[in-house]
Amino acid sequence: AYCVDTNKDRIELINKGIAPIYEPGLSELIERGKSTGLLKGTTDIIQALKKSEITFICVGTPSDKSGKIDLKYIKKVSEDIGNAIKEKNGYHVISVKSTVIPGTTDSQIIPIIERISKKKVGIDFGVCMTPEFLKEGNAVNDFFNPDKIVIGGFDKKSSDYMYRVFNAFWPDKYGSDVFLFCDLRTAEMIKYANNSFLAAKISFINEMANLSEIFGVDIKTVSKAMGMDKRISSQFLNAGLGFGGSCFPKDVQALYYAGMSAGYNSKILSATLEINKNQPIRPISTLKKVLNGLKGKVIAVLGLAFKPNTDDVRSAPSINIIKELLIEKAKIRAYDPVAIDNFKKESGIEEKSGVKYCSKMIDALKGSDAVIFVTEWEEFYKLNQDDFINNMNSPVIIDGRRIFDPEKFDGEKIIYRALGFSKSLDFVPN
Ligand code: UGA
Repeated sequence: AYCVDTNKDRIELINKGIAPIYEPGLSELIERGKSTGLLKGTTDIIQALKKSEITFICVGTPSDKSGKIDLKYIKKVSEDIGNAIKEKNGYHVISVKSTVIPGTTDSQIIPIIERISKKKVGIDFGVCMTPEFLKEGNAVNDFFNPDKIVIGGFDKKSSDYMYRVFNAFWPDKYGSDVFLFCDLRTAEMIKYANNSFLAAKISFINEMANLSEIFGVDIKTVSKAMGMDKRISSQFLNAGLGFGGSCFPKDVQALYYAGMSAGYNSKILSATLEINKNQPIRPISTLKKVLNGLKGKVIAVLGLAFKPNTDDVRSAPSINIIKELLIEKAKIRAYDPVAIDNFKKESGIEEKSGVKYCSKMIDALKGSDAVIFVTEWEEFYKLNQDDFINNMNSPVIIDGRRIFDPEKFDGEKIIYRALGFSKSLDFVPN
């Protein structure tokens, strides 16, 4: 297999057997590919395509400022593929893995490849749309244990080809109902519907958490009970400081925008985004009340990555939280086990603006007036009451990811506030 990228540094790392991103289990796979000689990184797309039969398009599909999907990388790679298969003899299958708005493969990608290669889809080359459902931080495991494998095909020949390829990875799934065959547009829509549903599920439970705080209810128990209903399922029902990452925010926005451009205003998609915009900064008002204002206060922010087990900080709630704290003139001590460098690059927030980046969790706590837990890294679960009492100036904890047990934490020595949790019985229905 050839991994093609325009970024030379990334290719060099792959050829050294090193994963260019932090992803559990990925380095081992790349190392194995290197030592067996089965995996090669290259920047030469023409050669890579000549020596292969199938090409997966995996380029990014970011949003522009308005939320509209930006197809510049898709168009460029389609041109490159057109140029490559022009010079190639024999059938080649191109499979789109990038997330694209329904209609993109048949109305943009195929015409570009046909125009440049002067070859005909269905005759000289096949096309599939095979969306990806793996999660960052658990990508390798998800890849080998898929819930479903969706193959959208231009024609039966393309789909059959792809089925045989995927079958090599998941022989136990052969002939099973894990495979779903459909057309290109349906496959494109499945990806958006899947991500939008999960994002809406998170915004829904976050809204229930905010209501639970008003009613004096613990959302964790509510989520647990809801999750016991098989129709709902317990996954993606954890209330927190909102969803981030390179997929949910961008995909929900892109689908919303595509609907709007065709005259359809999706209320669910717009509410999903609206709730998610406000969710990360909810702890700020809580902190303001507890600390009597934030000016000059030292706040520890624990967890910068958009979720645990990744160094990805794209659209991470931590960015908005830290920006908001800086507006309030607080001083920040930020800690993350792997994402500090990416955070600095992505947010552009330097130390001189009032953020001290700490290499140890305890250093972030030392001398702080409050701590906000933004990402539920495993090491945070090991912190005990004494760690807060002995290191912090005032042990105020805002648990944005429900890491600790409120029963054990809220007491005389510690002020503990958690998302979706309140003991207040002030609310009286009328
Ligand atoms: C997501 C989807 O889960 C994958 O199926 C999909 O393939 C991927 O996008 C993609 O389109 O490429 P990912 O963004 O890597 O995967 O991570 P998730 O585990 O879905 O988490 C996304 C965000 O939701 C995180 O910020 C996480 O903290 C948040 N989340 C997740 C919650 O707030 N509560 C939950 O219960 C679950």
